[in-house]
Amino acid sequence: MAISYQQRNRIFTLKTRNTTYQMKVDDYGFLLHLYYGGCIYGDMDYLLTYYDRGFSGNPSDVGNDRTYSLDALPLEYPVMGSGDFRNSALIIRNADGSDCCDLRYSGYEIKEGKYRLPGLPAVYADSREAQTLEIYLEDKISHVQVTLLYGVLEEDDIITRSAVIRNQGKESVTVEKAASSCLDFLTGEYEMLSFYGRHTMERNLQRAEIGHGNHSIGSRRGTSSHQYNPAVIIAGKDTTEDKGRCYGMVFVYSGNFLCEAEKDQYDQTRVLMGLQSDLFHYPLKTDEELVVPETILCYSGEGFAVLSERYHHCIREHLCRGKHKNAPRPILLNSWEAAYFHFDGALICSLAESAAELGIDMVVMDDGWFGKREDDNSGLGDWHVNEEKLGCSLRELIDRVNAFGVKFGIWIEPEMVSEDSTLYREHPDWVLRIPGREPVHCRNQLVLDFSRSDVREFIFGQICSILDQGNIEYVKWDMNRSIVDVYSMENCQGRVTYDYMRGVYDFLEKLLSRYPDLLLEGCSGGGGRFDAGMMYYTPQIWCSDNTDALDRLRIQYGSSFFYPACVTASHVSAVPNHQTGRSVNLHTRGVVAMAGIFGYELDPGKLTTEEKEEIKGQIVRYRQCEELVRLGSYYRLSDPFRAAYVAWMFVSKERERALLSVVMLEIHGNMTVSYVRLKGLIPDALYQDVESGRNFYGADLMEAGLPMPVEQRENPAYQIELIRQGA
Ligand code: GLA
Repeated sequence: MAISYQQRNRIFTLKTRNTTYQMKVDDYGFLLHLYYGGCIYGDMDYLLTYYDRGFSGNPSDVGNDRTYSLDALPLEYPVMGSGDFRNSALIIRNADGSDCCDLRYSGYEIKEGKYRLPGLPAVYADSREAQTLEIYLEDKISHVQVTLLYGVLEEDDIITRSAVIRNQGKESVTVEKAASSCLDFLTGEYEMLSFYGRHTMERNLQRAEIGHGNHSIGSRRGTSSHQYNPAVIIAGKDTTEDKGRCYGMVFVYSGNFLCEAEKDQYDQTRVLMGLQSDLFHYPLKTDEELVVPETILCYSGEGFAVLSERYHHCIREHLCRGKHKNAPRPILLNSWEAAYFHFDGALICSLAESAAELGIDMVVMDDGWFGKREDDNSGLGDWHVNEEKLGCSLRELIDRVNAFGVKFGIWIEPEMVSEDSTLYREHPDWVLRIPGREPVHCRNQLVLDFSRSDVREFIFGQICSILDQGNIEYVKWDMNRSIVDVYSMENCQGRVTYDYMRGVYDFLEKLLSRYPDLLLEGCSGGGGRFDAGMMYYTPQIWCSDNTDALDRLRIQYGSSFFYPACVTASHVSAVPNHQTGRSVNLHTRGVVAMAGIFGYELDPGKLTTEEKEEIKGQIVRYRQCEELVRLGSYYRLSDPFRAAYVAWMFVSKERERALLSVVMLEIHGNMTVSYVRLKGLIPDALYQDVESGRNFYGADLMEAGLPMPVEQRENPAYQIELIRQGA
C-alpha cells in the first residue's frame, strides 16, 4: 500500500520505493506537513515544536495558547489570511473584498490508480502502478472547498500533487493565486537549481542559495517561456551529481507559472510551485471550480543523476502518450534553415530526393507554405495552401515526396494571426487585445483568443482541411511570440491566461483524437514551451532555435536535468551556423545532435560529396544507437560550464550496451589529457569498445576513466560504443 492513514493520530503516509512523504491533521483540523525525503518508518510529528513566537498570530480556537501559530508550523497548503505570513499557496478574495480562507480538514479518500485532471495534462498510471489520495479541506464561512490530490507512483519514486478549488458558497469568490505544491522544510540550508535563458539560449543552469527573502522564478509571457523553465531542484549545499539530497518540482503546465522559495524568520524553507498570480484573477461562481495544474515531485538521496533518471522515466512512461511514445522516431530533414521562406514545390521535392539518397526518413515543409507568407509579416491565420508558390497542390507535392520513399511533415502555428491576413481582416475581434489600445507587436503577429471555443473551432477546421489533403505524418506545432495584451473580447477577464492554455490543450487533444497516428513536435521559437505539459501531447519538442553544436551542448545539458532525450529534438545544421556564425565540424555536429531525436536542418544540395558520405554514416550510426538514446539511462559526465570537455552517456536497461559521447571544448598548446569517468556500467562486467576491440572492466572505466586523445583541431568529438562481453 503506497498510501496509508492512521486514524489514531490522523497521519497520512505516502510511500514509494525509496522515499516517504508524511502529513498530519492536527487537533484544530489544520493539515501540517511532517516530512518528505528518504524512507522513514515512524510518525514524524515528534518534529513539530511549539513556542511563543512574537508577531506570529494564533488562530482564535487555540484560546490563550500563544505557542500555536501557522506562521511557524510546516504546512501542506498555506493560505493567505490564516496568520501565516510566508508565501501562500492559495489566495482567495471573498465577495466582501477580504483576502482570507480558513481551510480545515473535512475528510479523505484513497483511490486506486492515478487521478486525472479534466482538460489538463497530467501523469497517468493505472491501479497496478499508482494510488491517489484526496484530502478535503473547507472554509466553513465562504464554503470554498479545496481537494488536495496526491498521486503516488510507488515503484517510480514519484509523487504528484494538484489541487481543485471549488466554490460551494452562495457568493462568488476570486482565486488570486493558486499553487499545486508546497514543500516546507523545518531545517536545513538549501540551494535552488533553476534553468534560465532567452530565445536561442535556453535552460542555462543557475544554482543559488535560498536565503532570507523571496527568490522566485516564473513566466508572465503566456508560455512557460525560454526565460525560466517550470522546473527546479532544491538541493543541499553539498549535493552533486552522485551524492546528496535533492528534491525536484516539475510543473506540468505550459503557460504562466510561479515558483517561489523563501527562508523564513525561523530559518525554515518553503518552496511553492503553481500558477502565476500576476495577470490571474480567476472568478468562481457557485459550484464552479479551478483545477490547478500538477507538480511532479521527486526526491533523491543520491544526487542529481538519480533524480534525473526518475524524471526521465516518469516523463517517458507516464506523460508521453500515443503510438510514437515508444517507437523509433523518423530522422527528418526540415526546410527552415535550408530555405527559410524561399522554397517552392520543386525545392521540397529536391530535399526529398536528397533525403532518400542520404537515408533520411522524412521531409518537413516548415513555415511559408500557406496564405500570403513570403516573410514573417503576413499570412498567419490563413491556413490555405499557397499552390501558386508550391507550383502544385499539397496532395501532389506529398505524393511526389512519398514517391521517393520519404515521409512528409508540415509546420503550423495555429494560435497566431498576422494583421495582414484575411482572417484578421474578417475577425479583428478574435485576437487578444485591450479595447481602445494598440496591441503590442511581437514578430509582427497577434495572438488569437484560444480561450474562446468558437475561435479554436474555426482554426481547427482549417487545420483539419489541410491534414486531410494527403499523407501528412508529422506536424510541427509552433508558437512564436509572448502574450502581452491579456484581454478577451468574449471571455471573462482574469481567467484568460489559464483558459487560453486550456484552449491550446483542448485543441491538441482533439487533433490527436482525430489523427491518432500523427506525430506532433512541439515548438515555441525552439524551446519556449519545452515543458512537461506539452510533452503530454507532443512526444518530442524542438529544443532550441539555436542549432550551433557548442551552444546546444549547454542547452541540452540544462534540459537533461528533467527531460529525457526521447523528447529532445536536435538537428545537424549548416556552417557557418546561422545563429552564431561559428563553424563546427560535421562530425561534432552529428555527435551533439545524436543526444536527442535526430535530424537535419540544411540544404543537402549545398553539401560536398564527402559531406554527404559523412551524413550517410551518421544516419547509419544513429539508427544503431537510436534505441539506446530513446530508452537508455542518461548520465551527465561533466559540467559544460566548467570542464574542458562535455561528456554524456546512454546505458541500456540491462547495462549490456552503452554509448559514450565526448566533445572537447578547449584546445591549448601542449594540451593536457582529459580523462572521462563513465557511469552506469556493471563494475565487474567486461565491456568491449566496439571500434578498437579492446576490453575494459566497468569499474575501471568508472573509477579511473578513459583518456581522450589530444588532437590539434577544433572541437573534436568522440563516440565510443561499449558492448558487455558474455552477456
Ligand atoms: C520558429 C521555429 C523555427 C521555425 C520558425 C518558422 O522560430 O522555432 O524552427 O519553424 O519558427 O517561422
